[in-house]
Amino acid sequence: MNKPSGIAVEDLAKPLTYPVEAFLSRDYAEAEKEKLWPRVWQLVERVEDFREVGDFVTYNIADDSIIVLKTGDGTFNAFHNVCPHRGRQLINVPDGVHSVRGNRRTFICGFHGWTFDTEGNNTYILDKEDWQGALTPELTCLSKIRVESWGGWVWINMDASAEPLPEYLGRAGEVLSHFELDRMSYKWRQWAIYPCNWKTAIEAFMEPYHVAGTHTQLLDYGDYYAYSAAHDRHSVSGFDQKGLAAKMAQGGSVSRAGKGEDARISTYELARENFETLNFTGSTDTLVNAAKRLVDELPEGTPASEVIAHWMKSAKADDAARGVAWPEIPPEIMAEAGLAWSLFPNLTILQGVTFALCYRTRPYGNDPDKCIFEAYALERYPEGDAPETAWIEAAPTAEQWGAILAQDFANMEWVQRGMKSRGFRGPLPNPHQERKITNFHRNLAQFMGTGEPRLLK
Ligand code: FES
Ligand SMILES: [Fe+2]
Repeated sequence: MNKPSGIAVEDLAKPLTYPVEAFLSRDYAEAEKEKLWPRVWQLVERVEDFREVGDFVTYNIADDSIIVLKTGDGTFNAFHNVCPHRGRQLINVPDGVHSVRGNRRTFICGFHGWTFDTEGNNTYILDKEDWQGALTPELTCLSKIRVESWGGWVWINMDASAEPLPEYLGRAGEVLSHFELDRMSYKWRQWAIYPCNWKTAIEAFMEPYHVAGTHTQLLDYGDYYAYSAAHDRHSVSGFDQKGLAAKMAQGGSVSRAGKGEDARISTYELARENFETLNFTGSTDTLVNAAKRLVDELPEGTPASEVIAHWMKSAKADDAARGVAWPEIPPEIMAEAGLAWSLFPNLTILQGVTFALCYRTRPYGNDPDKCIFEAYALERYPEGDAPETAWIEAAPTAEQWGAILAQDFANMEWVQRGMKSRGFRGPLPNPHQERKITNFHRNLAQFMGTGEPRLLK
């Protein structure tokens, strides 16, 4: 279905560049509406948001609006949000609204009253005989689209011939399934309309290479050298060390020993710093409290790998005592899972055993200089204990999002502006640490037929 790319996965290890048209051009943004968005799996909302049969949520992507509706226990229908009569949106979704929610057993169009059931069948047309028998069920039903659930999210795809979602997710889905994201719930969820392209925004969360320059305060607590690797359309990054011994001690995920003489102390300090400045995600209360006890529970000089093993064991026991069971994740999967995954095209998931920090970006209107930015925290809670949350529109400040995200916001707009400079020769992504970004452009080019990365030499 996609045009073969001249850049192979192995080429991502080489110095590459790619054009900036994808971030800046109105024509490119228009083309995305045809070539990209109708052809990819996109997550709509967490399953937990659909409580009763008939609960629905709208999902807007570029010019398309979709209604996703719960039809039973774990079953959903999805329809284009348009009445087949004269094209009125069935559910009004005004600009500046995150999504529209409600509960319906029938959908009645506000214009002439055509009516539809939860399967999308037309059940009422005023003066139907005036059409002289031309109105078949196929002409008058809602336009149904593909819907599946995975990871605790409901996903849609507008392409009837698209591969099933598990195939689309591939290895990324297999690895992330071990984290049982479907058993986590929202801790908080926020969104903003932000002044940069949706790609500029999601790319700000694809690599830890920026930590040293952007989140300078974190350098007191850890090293941030990172690997990145392509998995078909998707990619992963993790913390990396230049020496093998250090690599063994540190691990690639956010829960690691940190930097310092005493791993008992550095592990705690890194976990606490991440938790407090990432708006109380990237760790959990249980993990931070268990890390705080390390200095009392372990002798001085305990090697980092043993500190981490003890930390995980005691946090797991603490969580078990309050009714939060950890999934059993084989060590080789933990190693492969690394720090964070980018799911093509517009998602990033930074996963932990009991938490996840997720990002999504979407175009806003027809303006390539604007996007809808969303970030949210998931956590494993005791049964029935998850907090009530709703989407909150939040200004891009440290007060609203925590210090780390505010530092990321403080780059994105200026990357968008900087890339317009006639003095910019094009991006020079790091071939080891920023491969997620070049893999993203490699895949994007296959859908768009333009914008392929090319070798620098
Ligand atoms: S446009 Fe919906 S009933 Fe006429
Ligand atoms: Fe960042």
